[in-house]
Amino acid sequence: MENTIQLRPFKSSDAQRLASIANNANISDNLRDGFPHPYTLEHASQFISRTLSADPISIFAIEKDGEHVGNIGLHPESDIYSRTAELGYFVGEDYWGKGIGTEAVRQIVQYGFETMNLIRIHAGVFEYNRGSMRILEKNGFLKEGVSRKRVVKNGKVLDEHQYSIINPKYA
Ligand SMILES: CC(C)(COP(=O)(O)OP(=O)(O)OC[C@H]1O[C@@H](n2cnc3c(N)ncnc32)[C@H](O)[C@@H]1OP(=O)(O)O)[C@@H](O)C(=O)NCCC(=O)NCCS
Repeated sequence: MENTIQLRPFKSSDAQRLASIANNANISDNLRDGFPHPYTLEHASQFISRTLSADPISIFAIEKDGEHVGNIGLHPESDIYSRTAELGYFVGEDYWGKGIGTEAVRQIVQYGFETMNLIRIHAGVFEYNRGSMRILEKNGFLKEGVSRKRVVKNGKVLDEHQYSIINPKYA
């Protein structure tokens, strides 16, 4: 597939668009409760300011053909886990099934290893989210195991599948 997907830092002017693609229960049902539903313009503005205060920036807008279609980010951990980051992402529902999530993960893993010098990137996926598991597997993540009944989401108790990838320099 031709690579027309780019990760770029957010701009304050992205707030309206972010609120419109993020305000969707089919997205928030797969994410932590910190990703609200409904997702308002104020949530979007606050989120964008937070992403811009990080150094280096590690949360990006996913752009396809110049249009903002989703978010992806690495969340570095601290203390003894400082060379590890957690990966999170979503793609606006109108754009699902076009390979965007897969390509965005490929690009951010490269950024995490080459620019942030991370050793490990990991992600937790709710038991019903086969698409996200597939994206991680296609990008070389390994399933390390299943954290049983770790999640309560929308009142449902769920297993969480744990995926990771290791920087080849440290493998
Ligand atoms: C998960 C998500 C990012 C996928 O984005 P996307 O751009 O549609 O993903 P892609 O098109 O790159 O690839 C999806 C892959 O999963 C597969 N897939 C999608 N839904 C599936 C399902 N229900 N069962 C099995 N496979 C599925 C697709 O067939 C594709 O694999 P293929 O290339 O081998 O055919 C998107 O649906 C989303 O934002 N969901 C809500 C938020 C979310 O789940 N975030 C991740 C939390 S861990």
